[in-house]
Amino acid sequence: MRIVVAADHGGFALKNDLATHLRSLGHEVIDVGTDGAASVDYPDFAALGVAEVLAGRAEKALLVCGSGVGMSIAANRHRGIRAVVCSDVYTARMSREHNNANALCLGARVVGPGLAQQILDVWLETAYAGTASRHQQRLDKLEKIAP
Ligand code: RB5
Repeated sequence: MRIVVAADHGGFALKNDLATHLRSLGHEVIDVGTDGAASVDYPDFAALGVAEVLAGRAEKALLVCGSGVGMSIAANRHRGIRAVVCSDVYTARMSREHNNANALCLGARVVGPGLAQQILDVWLETAYAGTASRHQQRLDKLEKIAP
């Protein structure tokens, strides 16, 4: 799968770790930064990440900041993005199965690298319940809410 990864200064180290993990699993990773501890603004990097998904260059986005919250708020401002902030495996699974989430946001100051990897793996391995499921009408309603 082609996955775009993005982070702010609070998340870049975990983003880099997870990008290495994704490559080791055979995924193609597009890394749009940031790559250092210099302070940057999460809306800018969320926008770079989700742009890859919306343009069809990546199937899913992994967005990392300190809490995951800023990235999720920013990503969900973009129509067509269903971003979820996760700090547990159950939410990761449900966000795929029920919500067809296409962006996973993690908080590097919330979850350790081991749990982050588990969450990411489950999130990527779980399929959406499908367009024929009861969940689709709910996703269709979301698309009607601006933005
Ligand atoms: C940066 O200090 C921090 O605010 C950011 O990484 C993120 O947690 C915001 O939601």
